[in-house]
Amino acid sequence: MKILVINGPNLNLLGERNPKHYGTQTLTAIEDRMEERAGEYGWEIEFHRSNHEGEIIDLLHGSRIDCDAVILNAGAYTHYSYAIRDAIEAIRIPVIEVHLSNICAREEFRAKSVLSPVCRGTISGFGAASYILAMEALVEIIDDN
Ligand code: DQA
Repeated sequence: MKILVINGPNLNLLGERNPKHYGTQTLTAIEDRMEERAGEYGWEIEFHRSNHEGEIIDLLHGSRIDCDAVILNAGAYTHYSYAIRDAIEAIRIPVIEVHLSNICAREEFRAKSVLSPVCRGTISGFGAASYILAMEALVEIIDDN
């Protein structure tokens, strides 16, 4: 089982960026936690982070070749990128949408995700734990995806 984790724009600033919404853990700390959990499950896990829409699309396309699932936090692209939405729809492996903050409890523009309808499911609002919960979700669905 191989999982690809993609983090989008501005998520490299976790730890210093708006801690009220995003907490104080750095992305590296979150990835370390995920790596540890993946080790417990015997999964291979790969991490990518990009500020660029096209790069995220390329990563999604690539994932269909050698990955079993994707965990994606597309940052603000979540709310308007039809190109990322189409890429998710085009690949067959499950994509779990993740957000640190509860996107429904913030500004109105964040309440809508254009990605949700084509993702297997969404986990939002649990801070860094959202990523771990996405892994737990994969444990549950991996046999029936
Ligand atoms: C986010 C929520 C988005 O609205 C925002 O643009 C982000 C982070 C989250 O993880 O809560 O960059 O995806």
